[in-house]
Amino acid sequence: MRSIISLFVLGAGLGVVANPIVPYTVHEKRTSLPMGWSHSRRHDSSAALPLRFGLTQNNIADIGEYLHDVSHPDSPNYGKHWTASQIAEAFAPSDETVSNVHSWLIDNGFDSSRIRVTPAKSWIEVDATVEEAESLLRTEYNIYGHESGSEHVACESYHLPAHLIPHIDIVTPTVHFDAKLARRANAPPAVVNGKKPGMGNAPKTTGVVTNLLAGTDGCDQQITPACLQALYGLNYTPVSTSSNSIGIVEYTPQAFVQSDINMFASSYAPDLNGKAPVVVSIDGGVVQTTTTGFNDNGESNLDLQYAMSIVTAAQPVTLYQAGDIVEGASFNNFLDAIDGSYCTFEGGDAAGQDSAYPDTSAGGYNGKDCGTVTPANVISTSYTYNEGDLSVSYATRQCAEYAKLGLMGVTILYSSGDSGVAGSGGACLANNAFSPTFPGSCPYVTAVGATQINSGSTVSDPEGACEQVIYSGGGFSNYFSLPSYQSTAVSSFLTNYPPPYTSSQYNSTGQSRGIPDISANGANYVVAVDGSFSLVYGTSASSPVAAAIFTLINDARLAAGKAPIGFINPTIYSSAFNGAFNDITTGGNQGCGTNGFSSAPGWDPVTGLGTPNFPKLLSAWLALP
Ligand SMILES: *[C@@H]1O[C@H](CO)[C@@H](O)[C@H](O)[C@H]1NC(C)=O
Repeated sequence: MRSIISLFVLGAGLGVVANPIVPYTVHEKRTSLPMGWSHSRRHDSSAALPLRFGLTQNNIADIGEYLHDVSHPDSPNYGKHWTASQIAEAFAPSDETVSNVHSWLIDNGFDSSRIRVTPAKSWIEVDATVEEAESLLRTEYNIYGHESGSEHVACESYHLPAHLIPHIDIVTPTVHFDAKLARRANAPPAVVNGKKPGMGNAPKTTGVVTNLLAGTDGCDQQITPACLQALYGLNYTPVSTSSNSIGIVEYTPQAFVQSDINMFASSYAPDLNGKAPVVVSIDGGVVQTTTTGFNDNGESNLDLQYAMSIVTAAQPVTLYQAGDIVEGASFNNFLDAIDGSYCTFEGGDAAGQDSAYPDTSAGGYNGKDCGTVTPANVISTSYTYNEGDLSVSYATRQCAEYAKLGLMGVTILYSSGDSGVAGSGGACLANNAFSPTFPGSCPYVTAVGATQINSGSTVSDPEGACEQVIYSGGGFSNYFSLPSYQSTAVSSFLTNYPPPYTSSQYNSTGQSRGIPDISANGANYVVAVDGSFSLVYGTSASSPVAAAIFTLINDARLAAGKAPIGFINPTIYSSAFNGAFNDITTGGNQGCGTNGFSSAPGWDPVTGLGTPNFPKLLSAWLALP
C-alpha cells in the first residue's frame, strides 16, 4: 500500500500521468483559428496557467418538467414559483460532480490546498504550470498572435477522462479565443458580429402622420390606445400597482424621449403627461441623446408609449436600458444582470456574440452587472435574432435561462419578427429555407406575432394577420423540439391545414416548436417620435401591448392574493383557455419567395392562438389557484 502511494506521488511530481489506465476522450477541439490570429510559438512549460473547470449543472435536463409543474393549470403546484436561491440550489453542480473532479485533480498530484471550489460550486480552480496542465489535459499549449499585436494562450484540443465528461462543461484556458482586442482608433463601435439584437427587425414607419383621427372610427388607419382598449376589451383600473411590475427591455443606442411621451400623452393618454419610466441601467445602459431619429428613438418610444398607456399612469413601468454607448449589449448581458448565477452558467457569455464587460474602450462601462437587477413580473423585448445565426449550444444555454425565470414566476415575451417566414431583414436560410427567430423559438418564451384591423373593418370585426409593411414572424424551430403544451395545437394545424411546402423549406417533422404563441395588433400605430407623430408597424408593438395586458391580469391576481401568471404557455394552450384569445383565421406571413403560412382556425404559425380577449382571460386566470 505504502509503496503504491509513494510511486504515485513520485509519478505526479515528474509530470507523468498518474493513472494511465483511465481512458481519455477529446472534450473540446477547434478546427480553425479565428480571423486575424496565427500560431506564434510553444508556451513556456514553467509558465503559470490559471486552470478553471466549469462544472455541469445538476438537473438541467429536467428544467422543462419543473417549469411545467408550476405553470400547468392542472398541476397541484400551479403558481408555486421558486425563489432565486431554490433555483441556485437545484441547478448547482452535484456533490458527486464536485468530488469526482476534485479527486481526479488530487490523483494527478495537485495538493488539495491548491484546489478551490467557487462558492456557488460552479467552478473548480487550480493554478497550474503549463507542464502540469499539458499532462493533466493531454494537450500542448501555444501562444497565438493577433495582427493587432495581442497575444493569447490556447490549445487546439484537450482530453478528459471519459468518466468526467458528464461532469465538466468547459475548461479554460483551452481552445477558446475570448481575448479582448484593443479597438483601433476611429474603428466603428463593435457590432457584435453583425448580430446585435434587432438588426433588421426594428419597427418600420411609413412616415409622419398629421391628420390625427379621434375615437375608434378610423382604427383600420390609425391605432391608438383607444383602439386597443376597444379591440381587446380593456376596461380595468389597476389596484395592486405597488406590488406589481412590468419591464420593457431596450438596447442602447435605442432611447426614449420624454418630450415625445408627453406629446403622446397630450393627444391619447392625459394621465401620462410628465410620467417617465423607471430607468434601470444594465452594463452602462444610458438613454442616449447623442443621436436621434426614427432608428434611434422609434422602438423605445413605441414600446413605452403603448405599454405605459395600457397599464395606466398608476402602474410604474421599468425600462431595462442595456449596454453602454460604445459596444451595446446582447440578451445574455441583460440575463446576467437579472440572474447572477447565469454570468458563469455553462461557461458564461460567448466572445464575439455577447458584449464583453468591463468595456475597456474609451468611454466604455468599466463594470459588469451580475445579478444586480430584480426581474419584473412581465418582461417584454422587441428585439430578435435569427435562430440560424446562433449555435445550438448558445441558444440552448440562453433558453434554459428563460425557463429559470419562468420558474420564478416571470412572464417573458419576445416579438416574433417582422419578416414572415424569413429572418431579420428578409434573410432566409440556405436554398431559401424559412428562417425562424430566436428567442421566440425557445419553448420557455412566449412569442408574440402581429395582426391588423383589415382595411374598412372596425374594432368589432375579426382582425387578420398583419399584411401591411410587415409580416408576422412565424414558423417552426430547427433547434427546439415540440413542447408538450403545444403538441395538440401544432398537430391539429399540420393535419387540418397542411402547408404546401416540403421539408427542404421548413422543419415539417411536426416534432419542432412552433411560433408564435399569441399575437396582437402590429399595424398603423400612432407614435410620437422626435416631435411628430409617425405611423409605425411591427411585432415590436405587439409584444409590449400583450405585456401590458398580462400586467393588468397580474394586478387582479395579486389583488386576489394569488401569484403572478408566470410562464403562460402551458396555461394558454390548455382547454380551460379555449376561446380566451380571439382566433385569427385570415392572412398569411409571406417570405422567402413564398406566401408563407396561412392563418387558420385554432393555433397557426402566423398568429398563434390569436389576440387577447381581456375579459375572458381575466376570468379564466382568476379561476385558477
Ligand atoms: C426539426 O426539429 C427537430 C426538433 O427540434 C430537430 O431534431 C431536427 O433536427 C429538425 N430538422 C431540421 C431539418 O432542422
